[in-house]
Formats: sequence, C-alpha cells, structure tokens
Amino acid sequence: MEQESVVAKPRDVMPEGAKTLPARYYTDPVLFAAELDGLFGRMWFHAGRSEEASRPGQYFVREFNGHDIVVTRNSAGAVRAFHNVCRHRGTRLCTGPSGQLSGSLQCPYHAWTYDLDGRLIGAPHMDEVPHFRKADYPLLPVHADEWDGHVFLNLTDTPEPLHAQLGALVEKFRDWRMQDLRLGRRIAYDVKANWKLVIQNYNECLHCPNLHPALNRLSHYLSGENEPLRATYMGGRMDLRPGVDTLSWDGTCPRAFLPGLSAEDRRRVYYYAIFPNLLLSLHPDYMMTHTLWPIAADRTVNVCEWHFHPSELARGGFDPADCVEFWDMTNRQDWQVCELSQAGIASRAYVPGPYSNREDLLYAFDRFVVDFHERYAERRA
Ligand code: FES
Ligand SMILES: [Fe+2]
Repeated sequence: MEQESVVAKPRDVMPEGAKTLPARYYTDPVLFAAELDGLFGRMWFHAGRSEEASRPGQYFVREFNGHDIVVTRNSAGAVRAFHNVCRHRGTRLCTGPSGQLSGSLQCPYHAWTYDLDGRLIGAPHMDEVPHFRKADYPLLPVHADEWDGHVFLNLTDTPEPLHAQLGALVEKFRDWRMQDLRLGRRIAYDVKANWKLVIQNYNECLHCPNLHPALNRLSHYLSGENEPLRATYMGGRMDLRPGVDTLSWDGTCPRAFLPGLSAEDRRRVYYYAIFPNLLLSLHPDYMMTHTLWPIAADRTVNVCEWHFHPSELARGGFDPADCVEFWDMTNRQDWQVCELSQAGIASRAYVPGPYSNREDLLYAFDRFVVDFHERYAERRA
C-alpha cells in the first residue's frame, strides 16, 4: 500500500498562465447587453423576499433592464408576477414601489381591472366593441417562484423549475429556515463597477487582511474552504476565530443563534454567490443578502439586507447596529476597491494579470463568463 505523504504538496489548482479577463468583459456595452439578455433574461434572478408580498394583493415593483414588474400574491396564497403594463393603452398600473391592492389591480387611466391572477375582469365601454373578449387581454405574466422566503423571477416563456437551477443549495441551507427570517435593515448602494467585479470581490478574501482588518480579526482570511464552482452558484465558508460568536463590531452576539443550526454551523459564515444576482451570507444569528441590479457595464445597484429571527425583532429595544454597521463599513470598503478595479481595468494600460491559487473560484467564474459569451455568440451567428 502506498504510504501517505506527510509533506504538504504545493497547491496546484490553477492552470499555468491563468490570468484575469480582458477589459472588454467589464467595459463593453455589447457584452454587457448580452449578459442582461442571456443570463438575467434566461435564468431565475432574485427579486426580493416573500414577506414583501406575504398577503394576497400585497405587492412590490422591480424595474430592471427595461422591464417594470409587479410581484404580488393571489387569493390562494401563490406568488404571482406581471408586467406592470395595462393591456388597454399601456399605462403603468402600480405606481408606487410597494403597497397593498384591494383584491384587484385597477388601471389609474380608464379603470380596466385585473384580478390577482392577471385576468381582465373589468373593461369599461368595451362591451360594445365587436369581437372584444376580456379573456384575450390578461396581464402579461412573468414566472415567479419562491425558495425559502426568497422570490425569484424568470423572463422566459418556459423556464426550468427554480429548484433545478438552485440544485443542492435547497438542501444545503435548509437548517437556516430562511423563510422564517424577517427584514431588519436595508441599505442600497450604487456601485460604479461591473456586476461581475462585485461577485468576484465577494468570492475571495485575499484582500481581507489589507482592506478589512476588522473582519480579519473576527474570521481569519485563510480559514474555511470553497466548494468547486457549480453550474449556477459558487461559494464556501469561513470560520469564526475562537471566542468570536458572529460578525459584529466586537464579535459578540447579542442575539440567540438561529434555531436549527448545528454546533459546526454556529462557528461558520457561509458566502454563496447564486447566479446571476444573489449574494447570500449566512451567519449564526442572521442572514445578509446582496441583490445585484446591473445598470450599465460600469454600474451596479446593490441592495443589501439584514434578516433576523422574528423573536429577536420582537424583542424590546431590538437594535441590529452591531452587525449592520460592521457590514456597512465592510461593504463600503469592498465597493471602493470594486470601483478602483473598474477604473483601472477601463484604463488603456490594463492587461490581464495572473491569479494566485487562492483565486481559483474567480478563475472558474471567468471560465463560466467566457463560456457563456461563446455560446451566446454561437446562438447569434
Ligand atoms: S390605459 Fe389602462 S385602462 Fe386605459
Ligand atoms: Fe471584501
């Protein structure tokens, strides 16, 4: 039997010459448009939380890539999404970013009225129009589905099931009972960087000692391990240092741990980028999400939310400042280097640079991006 070597071999995970991508992947509006069309336009993308449309008629609106979409819940309790466009003369139906419908959607212009499944149920003065049938003019639907309290949308006609896209994540994160958690705080950041730079920054912590000394004091930047890149997500975990209970200003945890977590998972933070636009960060006592909304090749709106167990939110004097302010500082440090990366990559002097072995997920993500563009170009040829 071969004797196991006790000498650590050098990590050999990167192909020779592995380098970052050419600038055009971060700056070219044509490639950016292809990503909106071929990735965001075809995959299930994260839109919000189930609690934002928890009752029949409660709704929220998302405007993205020329779409204006209302997400609500029907009387049977199923999440529904529609283009926010009246079938009469096109008027926007829901005018605010969120609200409560009284059981139907009524156009503010001529009062065409739709039920919560999108059926046209009232169309004043149309009875006298020959051949007009209400059944021919439902709201245009958008596929909507939920995973553990997260609402996803899909703009294709016949998408694969959401859970097929999420794969093993559905089982992997069941213990966090994300559907039970409720929003404690939301901060939207406008980042002058390509959305892929935000994802790449999220998936490596080599920058942590330099950029995030406070984070590195709580969780060593080389702790934990990554999963290999999967078809629709990538991520890994990092370990809390001894004596640290969560990621907060001082590492103490003023909240109870989430119920259902194993002793191991109470010592870890999981960071998963779920393509194309959800960054899911699971802490022992709270969930942080970033939802990315690419606006231009060099601009991404990034909505960060902190979600807590309802028993903590209900506690008198609940104050999430310890973790919100810690992450807000860390977020801003990250967005600053993302913006500096964007600026440098956009410079005419930029040439692709070599990756370290600790940047294996980034290199794998680059291959995902390059493969996508090759397949997209082939389909267009
Ligand atoms: S445009 Fe909506 S009812 Fe006329
Ligand atoms: Fe960072």
